[in-house]
Amino acid sequence: MYCLLIFLALFNINLSLTTLEQKGIDYFATNVKVTYNVKDNRPPNTFDAEIILKNDGMQNISGTWHLYFSHVRLITKQNFTHNIPNIDLELDHIDGSLYLIKQKNINYILQSNSQISLKFKPRLWLVARTDNMPNWYVVNENLLPRTIHSTINEDLTFTGPFDKPEKWKRSTQDKYDPFNAAKRFDNYIDNKGTKGKIVIPTPYQHKILEGEINLENDEWVIVNTHNEFQNEANYLSKKLNMKVLNNNIGISSFYIEFTKFPFMVSPSLERKESYGLIVDPDKLLISIISDEPVGIFHGVQTLISILESYKAENEKRGRIPALHLADGPRYPYRGLHLDVSRNFHDVQTIKTILETMAMYKLNKFHFHLTDDEGWRLEIPGIPEITDKGAKRCHSKNFADCISPQFGSGPTSSSSGSGYYTVDEYKDILTYAKERHIEVIPEFDMPGHCHAAIQSLKNHLTYALSDPDDTSEYLSVQYYKDNAVNPCINSTYAFVAKVVEEVKRLHQNIQPLKVFNIGGDEVAKSAWIGSKICKEKYPNTTNVELKKIFMQKVSEIVKNENLDLAAWQDGLIDGVKPFPKDDLANEKIYAYLWDNIWEFGKANLTYVFANSNYSVVLSHATHLYFDHPNEPDPEERGFYWATRYTPIDKVFAFRPDSVYDNIDVNRNGDPIVKDQFCQNGVCVNLTKPENIVGMQGHVWSETIRTSNQLHSMLYPRLLALAERAWHKADWEQENVKDEEKKRKEDWSEFAHALGNKELKRLDKMNIHYYLNVPGAKVDGAKLKARTTFPGMPIMFKQGDENLQLYKENIQVKNDKTITLVTG
Ligand SMILES: *[C@@H]1O[C@H](CO)[C@@H](O)[C@H](O)[C@H]1NC(C)=O
Ligand SMILES: *[C@@H]1O[C@H](CO)[C@@H](O)[C@H](O)[C@H]1NC(C)=O
Ligand SMILES: *[C@@H]1O[C@H](CO)[C@@H](O)[C@H](O)[C@H]1NC(C)=O
Ligand SMILES: *[C@@H]1O[C@H](CO)[C@@H](O)[C@H](O)[C@H]1NC(C)=O
Ligand SMILES: *[C@@H]1O[C@H](CO)[C@@H](O)[C@H](O)[C@H]1NC(C)=O
Ligand SMILES: *[C@@H]1O[C@H](CO)[C@@H](O)[C@H](O)[C@H]1NC(C)=O
Ligand SMILES: *[C@@H]1O[C@H](CO)[C@@H](O)[C@H](O)[C@H]1NC(C)=O
Repeated sequence: MYCLLIFLALFNINLSLTTLEQKGIDYFATNVKVTYNVKDNRPPNTFDAEIILKNDGMQNISGTWHLYFSHVRLITKQNFTHNIPNIDLELDHIDGSLYLIKQKNINYILQSNSQISLKFKPRLWLVARTDNMPNWYVVNENLLPRTIHSTINEDLTFTGPFDKPEKWKRSTQDKYDPFNAAKRFDNYIDNKGTKGKIVIPTPYQHKILEGEINLENDEWVIVNTHNEFQNEANYLSKKLNMKVLNNNIGISSFYIEFTKFPFMVSPSLERKESYGLIVDPDKLLISIISDEPVGIFHGVQTLISILESYKAENEKRGRIPALHLADGPRYPYRGLHLDVSRNFHDVQTIKTILETMAMYKLNKFHFHLTDDEGWRLEIPGIPEITDKGAKRCHSKNFADCISPQFGSGPTSSSSGSGYYTVDEYKDILTYAKERHIEVIPEFDMPGHCHAAIQSLKNHLTYALSDPDDTSEYLSVQYYKDNAVNPCINSTYAFVAKVVEEVKRLHQNIQPLKVFNIGGDEVAKSAWIGSKICKEKYPNTTNVELKKIFMQKVSEIVKNENLDLAAWQDGLIDGVKPFPKDDLANEKIYAYLWDNIWEFGKANLTYVFANSNYSVVLSHATHLYFDHPNEPDPEERGFYWATRYTPIDKVFAFRPDSVYDNIDVNRNGDPIVKDQFCQNGVCVNLTKPENIVGMQGHVWSETIRTSNQLHSMLYPRLLALAERAWHKADWEQENVKDEEKKRKEDWSEFAHALGNKELKRLDKMNIHYYLNVPGAKVDGAKLKARTTFPGMPIMFKQGDENLQLYKENIQVKNDKTITLVTG
């Protein structure tokens, strides 16, 4: 035993590892521990940060090395300094979020048990752990890259604690602090012991009558005599495990029937999607009434929802009270946007989202399939676009794949890589069609095109860049080459090919109606150094070139008989929308997202509508679900539009009066409509019919797993659905007691989630977000609340076992109280 130890010690001394060999790189990856610390966010427009590299192993490491990592804030060479002797370090910004620290001194030794600390000053601030990205990696010339072990961790524990205000506040003006138990208690509402709303989203009208129907009886069947409702009958049949008959011969009770009838609820509601539901316990009959399959489908969802909420533990179908219900949506467009470029999410994940969209009557899936970080759809005839463009990995000069981004690491086995094959995409379309959801694919151009441009460099037919373009720019997410060139013919050959192929994919499933070209965030200095642009369009500005691009795309799209869609900034010439007639399409959807109140752009929502664009409300301050649920550094999400977006903020969004949503600025200071609209300067809506609906959004920079995606999407998706479907009484103009009414409405909604809806999500294995409970001690009694009354709260004092919380718990002195919900 002693001998062996001595032998090992000697062995260690003699062995020196160099990163010039693979085993040195391997050793570095396993033993060098990375720590990332935010030190201070107070300096204006920059912050102090530190990277510590500690050799935790027994051996010294010599030789040069290259350390790659993703960082979402810009770091320039000049902002990266160090004073470590002997080391020869250089920082390089590769592109996007990817950085390289090169150690170039071949004789430098990172000794066992020693560390180096690199201090630097990135742009802006960093106040959330999830801003930091995992999977840093080390490599040297022709050796294989290896991921640094200490950074392989979805909990991002290599990031130091955010334990001081200067770490969790973006600046000295930032008003946000993480919530504590008392603050949460005040934010939440009391448990009234009721079940809340009968259905989410709230039906237009309903009346519960005497009696109920129990569907446990095996005699129950679905009777559908209309061919066109077969899909709805099949859907319900699967959910209730009930037979479908296509005639009602000899059946007088125990059946659910679909009645074809033009059901008109109110002229303020979309007629096609309106439906009625009658539950008649005398006749033992349930009728769903509509003359459109989509109306029947919504009725089916309402029926399932009520059955599930009245169902006892041991029942398989449940019961439903006698009921007259008449319902229909306020908006024809009730959307969800999902970015699968920054991180890829597989078909099953998409299907689960589509199913919940259908449950809550959302009907448009805006599928953000391309961006700088990956092209996610197979395009027949252009294999390069996915062979390279859907793959992020480390390769020499990034020749085989596009660069690793947002912590996707050196290999293509992470969520940074992947795409939908033609068959998979068709499978998604079919699944969506069965649920009356229109898939609106987006191919974001001309900006946000790093992946496509890299994949098609020097392509004979579809090249997207001018090799002689000397323009220097950084896009919002720090790409140097992400704007497709609008002056070369191959760009339009590419667009035409994509439009044609995508149209073909949709053809026999759900015909494509809208082509979404994105169009957002084109870097201001793109193309101005392009030789071809200068020759073809002399003396033409970047914005004018963007307009030329949009016009040509508009022609291509129109020639395929499709409507056009784009983000607002894709349709804008600096400050105002392009005159709609400058574009070829009859109908053009504009997604109005850029509404940070204090930037003064919120008027554009109505300017676009008044200019005959079809406006989808996409306001980032309320409808971006990639933003955190709480202003806590440990919460996932970016926070550029607003520090946090709790579900009750989504619920309180007023789509019919945009300026009434003005609430706080980015620092958290209260602001009001009058500050921005005084003297009548705010543009009024003259064409309300052009507001087609609203949409929630998930961008996926910080979202790598499906559980992470669920926690951002749910349950906020339910509040989105509620507002998109139902106009509440507190939303009416000049309503009395608006706040009181809204609070009552919220309470009903929150109780429905706590008692019923979240259980439905549980059954689907959806990993939804729950705020931690709030509590206070009042007269030596523990008072606790959750966001969703009805969710059980567990508590313990000191080392006790957890037990169920109820009223009047006596608090013990000097004991820490722990509360849990879920
Ligand atoms: C590491 O390097 C130091 C300084 O050169 C030396 O004293 C020490 O013995 C080395 N350790 C190993 C394990 O080689
Ligand atoms: C960061 O570098 C830029 C030049 O790229 C320089 O203008 C700026 O002052 C630097 N900021 C800090 C905080 O050092
Ligand atoms: C681009 O297309 C235009 C119009 O079709 C044509 O006149 C021109 O010659 C083409 N340019 C190149 C470089 O092929
Ligand atoms: C370029 O455009 C500007 C503004 O549109 C105009 O004033 C100027 O005369 C033009 N220059 C040339 C060389 O065409
Ligand atoms: C609307 O535009 C006016 C005039 O430019 C500006 O003063 C006002 O702040 C804007 N309002 C909003 C809510 O953006
Ligand atoms: C909008 O369309 C109407 C009807 O076609 C037309 O009269 C009006 O001029 C258009 N408004 C704008 C701003 O283009
Ligand atoms: C918008 O309507 C209000 C109320 O009718 C009016 O006072 C205001 O001047 C209008 N604003 C504009 C920009 O026309």
